[in-house]
Amino acid sequence: MPSTPALKNVLVTGGAGYVGAVLIPKLLKAGYKVTVVDLFLYGENVFDGVKGNPNLRSVKGDIRDVKLLEKEIETIKETLKLIGELKTQFGIKRNADCDDPLMYAGVANSDVIANITPLVEKYFGKAYKPAGETAYLKNFFDGFVKNVGGARSDQTLFRKDISPVLTMYCAFWPWGSNPVNTSIRIGLLCETEEQEDEVVKLLKGCFK
Ligand SMILES: NC(=O)c1ccc[n+]([C@@H]2O[C@H](COP(=O)([O-])OP(=O)(O)OC[C@H]3O[C@@H](n4cnc5c(N)ncnc54)[C@H](O)[C@@H]3O)[C@@H](O)[C@H]2O)c1
Repeated sequence: MPSTPALKNVLVTGGAGYVGAVLIPKLLKAGYKVTVVDLFLYGENVFDGVKGNPNLRSVKGDIRDVKLLEKEIETIKETLKLIGELKTQFGIKRNADCDDPLMYAGVANSDVIANITPLVEKYFGKAYKPAGETAYLKNFFDGFVKNVGGARSDQTLFRKDISPVLTMYCAFWPWGSNPVNTSIRIGLLCETEEQEDEVVKLLKGCFK
């Protein structure tokens, strides 16, 4: 494991079991921030050795439970403050035709993207796929990105896992090969339609 991990936040579902009891202290020692979502079927003292570590957050719950989503809404709202900052710091407006309630889409002059990047990193960490790299299609998220036309190497993708069923992303999608404009998209992916309906209700108006 690298001593300064590029990926700083790790979510471990079922992390209070046999594997998690060994893995989580190692992740913490390596400098990761770890969230565990678990039913704690085997008791709650599995992490006694790392109790009080500020980088460990435990959420007691069933990963299949939609209600658990509510607990994650504050993290999402915190990340969505980025949209307000894009407006106030860079004057970027939401596209009028963006009708997806879980997506923000705006356009920036490509010259300002370098200035916007540190702001996005503040909320999402370093890019999951920096411009210049291809997308790898390793998982659900990469598959989603490809489906919406986002596997080009000039695109930059930031990714933040909120819970086992919720992933946020921010993407810079340059227009054409020598672009004057770059789309900025911030979105939330839910694993199922049922979860999406629930989250739309809980986040009403937040993506404006
Ligand atoms: N132990 C091994 O050597 C080993 C090897 C290879 C793969 N695995 C796999 O790794 C996974 C974890 O293994 P383990 O040995 O740590 O298992 P474990 O039974 O010790 O732990 C599983 C944990 O998941 C939690 N859990 C179960 N259902 C849940 C739900 N719906 N929502 C939230 N939490 C839930 C339980 O409370 C428990 O803490 C399993 O899928 C296992 O097949 C284990």
